[in-house]
Amino acid sequence: MNLLEEIYLSFLRIRNSLDFPLRQRFHPRPRKIQKKSHQQTDILPSYPPEIRSKADDQIGRLISDYHFQGFTFDHASATIRENLFYLAMLDEAFRQTNISLPENLTAADIGPSSWFYVHALHSALTWFRATQPRSVRLTGYEVDAYRLYSDLHTRRDHALGNMQGLDRVEYLDRAFSVQPDGFDVITLFFPFVFEKDHLEWGLPSGMFDPAGLLKTAWISLRKGGLMIIVNQGADEHRAEMKLLKTSAIPVAASFHMDPLLFTYPLDRYIITVQK
Ligand SMILES: C[S@@+](CC[C@H](N)C(=O)[O-])C[C@H]1O[C@@H](n2cnc3c(N)ncnc32)[C@H](O)[C@@H]1O
Repeated sequence: MNLLEEIYLSFLRIRNSLDFPLRQRFHPRPRKIQKKSHQQTDILPSYPPEIRSKADDQIGRLISDYHFQGFTFDHASATIRENLFYLAMLDEAFRQTNISLPENLTAADIGPSSWFYVHALHSALTWFRATQPRSVRLTGYEVDAYRLYSDLHTRRDHALGNMQGLDRVEYLDRAFSVQPDGFDVITLFFPFVFEKDHLEWGLPSGMFDPAGLLKTAWISLRKGGLMIIVNQGADEHRAEMKLLKTSAIPVAASFHMDPLLFTYPLDRYIITVQK
């Protein structure tokens, strides 16, 4: 690491040590976000012509298997596309692990941020290889729930807005903590593996403990339960695999996610762990 980078990280450490605790104590009161209504959008034209037919096939299957038609009527095009991509990631993770999910399922999502993808996560848990909807209880644990967005709503306000229409879904403004045998499924979409990302997202340096978080999640998984970890970029994926190995947490499946439905600057990699 060069000197400039070291100075930059030191600056972030000082800034976060001051403004993170302030944000937890002093934040605006909860304010409901009014759901905007959208006209039905045809998202297919937003895919390049050469992949449109393949994307159409995959979207059709996901919508049918996961009963996701309702969501595609009433959201912005980018949100629909990204939710479909999260649905595809979860679908692929379940299939590659060949998991059987229980009839009554308890799940945790660690670090949901604004939870723009909560409908995809809920549908995946409810409908994977099911003919009747499963009974799902889903809790999101967000340690930095009061970051302020440009519309002056907090992250929590946005998450609660995104959760509209879902039952037995809860968003807690706290770090995930050990709950032995508490969950059938635990998801971690982009847990921080490198300190720089953790600091750039505004979290205090002392909270950076990626191996500790994995162990906490592992202990909280029921026997037969599934943990899904999604990372961005090959470097982060390799570092996550190393952390799992040193923590003696066995990997069930590990793969590169096909970016067909959504393209990010860094490709997504998925690891599953079964207890
Ligand atoms: C990179 S963001 C991922 C956001 C979201 N899951 C997504 O898919 O876009 C990581 C999130 O995890 C939260 N976080 C980090 N450590 C956490 C912990 N121990 N418990 C709960 N949330 C945590 C951060 O505040 C941040 O919102």
